[in-house]
Amino acid sequence: MSILTLAEQQLEQKGYLDIDVNPTLDLFEEIEKLKKEKNAIILAHYYQEPDIQDIADYIGDSLGLSQQAAKTDAEIIVFAGVHFMAETAKMLSPQKKVLLPDLKAGCSLADSCPPPLFRKFKEKYPDHVVVSYINCTAELKTLTDICCTSTNAVQIIESIPKDKGIIFAPDVNLGRYLIKKTGRDLVLWNGSCMVHEIFSHEKIVKLKMRHPGAEFIAHPECEPHILEMADFIGSTTGLLKYTQRSAATEFIVATEPGIIHQMEKASPQKTFIPAPPNNTCACNECPHMKRNTLEKLYVCMKYELPEITLPDWVIEQGRASIDRMLEISAKAGL
Ligand code: 13P
Ligand code: SF4
Repeated sequence: MSILTLAEQQLEQKGYLDIDVNPTLDLFEEIEKLKKEKNAIILAHYYQEPDIQDIADYIGDSLGLSQQAAKTDAEIIVFAGVHFMAETAKMLSPQKKVLLPDLKAGCSLADSCPPPLFRKFKEKYPDHVVVSYINCTAELKTLTDICCTSTNAVQIIESIPKDKGIIFAPDVNLGRYLIKKTGRDLVLWNGSCMVHEIFSHEKIVKLKMRHPGAEFIAHPECEPHILEMADFIGSTTGLLKYTQRSAATEFIVATEPGIIHQMEKASPQKTFIPAPPNNTCACNECPHMKRNTLEKLYVCMKYELPEITLPDWVIEQGRASIDRMLEISAKAGL
């Protein structure tokens, strides 16, 4: 059986190529070699494991990653993130090969808004502009007028004339935050992220009492009662930059703890405490983001699989919503 047929079977079952990697290999060196040989770029989200962040050519939030995917000269984009992010890169650079180390690296938020149900929902508001958080499937983007990320969401909403109704999907928590920030009356889809909905108000209050000098910083995907306690709210890049400019030396961080790797690198003298979740588990890592490993990244680059492919109609109809977002962001200097 050819390697491709085997690979196809594995990809169907596991979502990644299960090939034994020689444990004596220096994967950092091998990956660097593959990058050069194949003219490949690795784009990684802050929620990836530290080793992946360290080997990446660019680490960023969803906006930064989209901007990089749109402008790269590399022939292959290796996306160390989740499926919707790799799809966005494919829509922005359809002529390039886009790889994702594990095809099953999904997103609970994107899954919370199935396109056929959203299509029916949208029909109830025919005159509304649809703004979708980029954390949604490529197909949902075909039903969207303008995408946004947590970095540019306020500017995107404010770019829409005041007399226009707006549907905001899929994150209800970010939607509520935007209603408060912009004073606009958004029609919200009721989706959410499993990682940002799990923080314990009670445990955070206790942690704040034990660390009175610490600032509490949170991502806008968190629930309103968590955001109410925050000294600062922002996207992952926003949170990282805030920890650099703030005079505080201790921070309680309410987002996926992968970002703490960059916070510690940027401010080694400061202390970062992950906000506690309301379950018995000590961490609240994103199980989807953490499906990618250094081994899977290496195998994916070596065999150029799994590859993200999208039907032409999805790219044609979905891309305008991302282009519009990038235009508004550029005008706003983001
Ligand atoms: P940002 O990095 O754009 O803030 O998004 C956070 C997130 O949940 C990505 O999945
Ligand atoms: Fe999706 Fe939440 Fe994981 Fe981000 S952190 S990929 S929004 S499940």
